[in-house]
Amino acid sequence: MEISREYLNLFEEAAKAAQTAYCPYSNFHVGAALLLDDGSVITGINIENRSYGLSNCAERTALFKAISMGKKDFKAIAIATPDANYPVGPCGACRQVISEFMDKKAVVLFGSEKQNIVYTTVEEIYPFDSLHELGKNN
Ligand code: THU
Repeated sequence: MEISREYLNLFEEAAKAAQTAYCPYSNFHVGAALLLDDGSVITGINIENRSYGLSNCAERTALFKAISMGKKDFKAIAIATPDANYPVGPCGACRQVISEFMDKKAVVLFGSEKQNIVYTTVEEIYPFDSLHELGKNN
């Protein structure tokens, strides 16, 4: 499937964001970019901590940043992992958080580079959504 220019641009925004990841412990840079219905983009990076378990993934940084700005109509999220040589999907915790704020039909893209982007949806990466009956987007 051909990925649209809009989504390729979103992936590029995620890749650009990855350059500022704070990841001195893993040295694994991750960038995320959220596309809003109005066309604007909000990015996030992974932010680690010397108490390793406190590290925050790029996807959650982007979502928490957006939600704290009062934004909520998300069309897509792109995730770039330039230090890998294959597309790295969101971790389980991020899938849960994505499912809280994004429609199940929303687009999810992830890749380590433009040539290997996986194009999918929230419902595909998070079927049997945990506690969906309690959520707002069920
Ligand atoms: N990481 C993300 O930011 N997103 C993912 O989807 C996978 C993992 C981060 C967490 C940690 O800072 C580093 O990548 C290595 O796991």
